[in-house]
Amino acid sequence: MDLVRRPRRLRTNPAMRDIIAETRLHAEDLIQVLFVRDGIDHPTEIVSMPGQYQHTIESLVEAVRSAVDAGVKCVDLFGVPRDEDKDSEGSAAWDPEGILNRGIAAVRREFGDQVVIMADTCLDEFTDHGHCGPLTIDGTGETVVDNDRSVHLYERMAVSQARAGAHVVSPSGMMDGQIAGIRQALDEQGFQDVSIMAYSAKYASGFFGPFRDAVGSSLQGDRKTYQQDPANRRESVLETQLDLEEGADMVMVKPAMAYLDVVREVADLSTVPVAVYQVSGEYAMIEAAAANGWVERERIVLEALTGMRRAGADLIFTYYATEVAHWLSQGK
Ligand code: PBG
Repeated sequence: MDLVRRPRRLRTNPAMRDIIAETRLHAEDLIQVLFVRDGIDHPTEIVSMPGQYQHTIESLVEAVRSAVDAGVKCVDLFGVPRDEDKDSEGSAAWDPEGILNRGIAAVRREFGDQVVIMADTCLDEFTDHGHCGPLTIDGTGETVVDNDRSVHLYERMAVSQARAGAHVVSPSGMMDGQIAGIRQALDEQGFQDVSIMAYSAKYASGFFGPFRDAVGSSLQGDRKTYQQDPANRRESVLETQLDLEEGADMVMVKPAMAYLDVVREVADLSTVPVAVYQVSGEYAMIEAAAANGWVERERIVLEALTGMRRAGADLIFTYYATEVAHWLSQGK
């Protein structure tokens, strides 16, 4: 055949493919998500997330050490309080002795500025009803999550996290105005240098299923009145623009694989770094299929993460961060 263009020429061997790769993964792009749980003596494996643990403070510090040794530069911490410490407002979230704040402080004491410490800023792990903020009765008599009081409590939580040593707070509750409120509260308390990673486009997703096990969630029902409808893309543009106007230092789309069009959309409009969150259900599906021998685990993990980078994400929250950083250092 008389062909001028033969794209296959650039696929002929591994070195050739490597030099023309448009997208690469680096350990520095990966954020290791970790859970710390109150009232346990030993790390407890999360049944629906094999290989992931609810940590004690001690094992949390060791997990951060493994991440740092592998070349990971950022960890995102979630707290799991004891059931008896949950209440209607989630007050253990801003208690300096609450599990998440103790975890943050322990990691900061051990690692200083060697690793960026990010904290999840949301009340759902800490409320006895499992919602992301306190409940109220609206004008029609419906029980709803109280947006403005939630924001006020997030402000207290964020300040307590900054005080404990978090470099970045990451509000994930999808309340309107949460970025503006938190920015102002941090600034008033002298935390101008603490950054905000905004969960800007967060969808009410079935892919969060295993996370609810991971944090011992008390939730009945769903979060569809505050998280976004999976049917909508334009709404993510609005949410992201609002977060940028309110002062977000970084923005995020979540979940990842079913929302890569949204990642591209946000990456194209954002003037700040863009992150994506490969969530618990995405992890669980890969693990389950791999355990059955139905997919090649390492191969599809790298393929999924590469797809997220290709879609435009600068940073990826993933339960695989430490492991993938090891693979990358071995040249995989
Ligand atoms: C809420 C929160 C959730 C996740 C992170 N932050 C759960 C939810 O919104 O129901 C999910 C993370 C995952 O599934 O990996 N604070």
